[in-house]
Amino acid sequence: MEFLKYINPGIDSIKPYEPGKSTDDVMEKYNLNKIVKLASNENSLGPSPKVKSAINEFKDVHLYPDGDGKQLKSKISEVELLSDKNIILGNGSNEILEIVSQTFLSERSECIFSKHAFVVYKLAAKVRGCNFHEVEAKSWGHDLNKFIEHINEKTRIIFIANPNNPTGTYLTHYEIDKFLQKVSSDIIVVIDLAYYEYVTADDYINALEILNNYKNVLITKSFSKIHGLSALRVGYGMGNKKLIEIMNRVRQPFNVNSIAQKAAIASLDDTNYLQKSIKHNTNEREFLYKCLKEMSINFIPSQGNFICIDVNQSGRKVFELLLKKGVIVRPIELYEMPNFIRVTIGQRLENEFFIQKLKECL
Ligand SMILES: Cc1ncc(COP(=O)(O)O)c(C=O)c1O
Repeated sequence: MEFLKYINPGIDSIKPYEPGKSTDDVMEKYNLNKIVKLASNENSLGPSPKVKSAINEFKDVHLYPDGDGKQLKSKISEVELLSDKNIILGNGSNEILEIVSQTFLSERSECIFSKHAFVVYKLAAKVRGCNFHEVEAKSWGHDLNKFIEHINEKTRIIFIANPNNPTGTYLTHYEIDKFLQKVSSDIIVVIDLAYYEYVTADDYINALEILNNYKNVLITKSFSKIHGLSALRVGYGMGNKKLIEIMNRVRQPFNVNSIAQKAAIASLDDTNYLQKSIKHNTNEREFLYKCLKEMSINFIPSQGNFICIDVNQSGRKVFELLLKKGVIVRPIELYEMPNFIRVTIGQRLENEFFIQKLKECL
């Protein structure tokens, strides 16, 4: 296959993204009748009932979506207290990460992110043959002081995941603000807030304040997590009007489908349901912490809807053992954390089932 020699530099070294295993695959492979899936950081409570009604009422499958996503952007601007010109919609927040990378990264530029950070930053760089610096972590979290040491004249994007997936670590508003003061305004700083709503720390980022103070910041948020719309693929980016206008030139015309737009509006409208999901996650996170402590198992305290657990042996092996018992979690050697598994916080019965099976495996 002669064409292989012409693939773009960087792509040859990419290991394809390994998504969480599907319930159907595992059921069939291990002949199980009960599966608990805690592998992809979805909202275990599912979406709001208002979302379900909005989807059921939808009829216009024969029409293209509103390519500008006017109604959804208007709803987001109400919630985020921004103009719709500061907002770009994406096919998941992943697409926003792709669009900003498409806009600024190439083989002539560099980007920076943390070791153990969300893998899509590295993929976005590699696909474009862009050189990247994976900065050593501090207590599993981003070490922003070290980020500064890697900035040079080729740096175009710095990616920050807050909280980070898979570690669940977070940066305070003060840490981010102090960092941004030191970063030249010609470098885009992407602050990925996919798990924003789950954070309970008092000193967490005030996104609006950061956006008002720094024109070179792009903030991304997702409807896949707390909103429970993972299957519909919708997310958004927020930033300076000019940045958004330029990114919109790169965006595909109908990137967010109509059902996703309607569902996202319905979800933002149901603040009670979102509060219920937050409360549920906080309680269950504490419940899992308690169980793990009782089992003397170490874990990284998380601000997300998932926990990284140190199984003190091959995480891949524990993952395989759990699979056979009907629990799907995530091994994370891809993140250079071979002795960890990442588990999404589920409903109480799911969490109990997981703990029971984990006990049997260790
Ligand atoms: C930190 C982080 N950012 C972004 C995403 C992308 O989410 P989506 O494209 O579903 O909005 C994820 C998904 O797992 C994530 O963990």
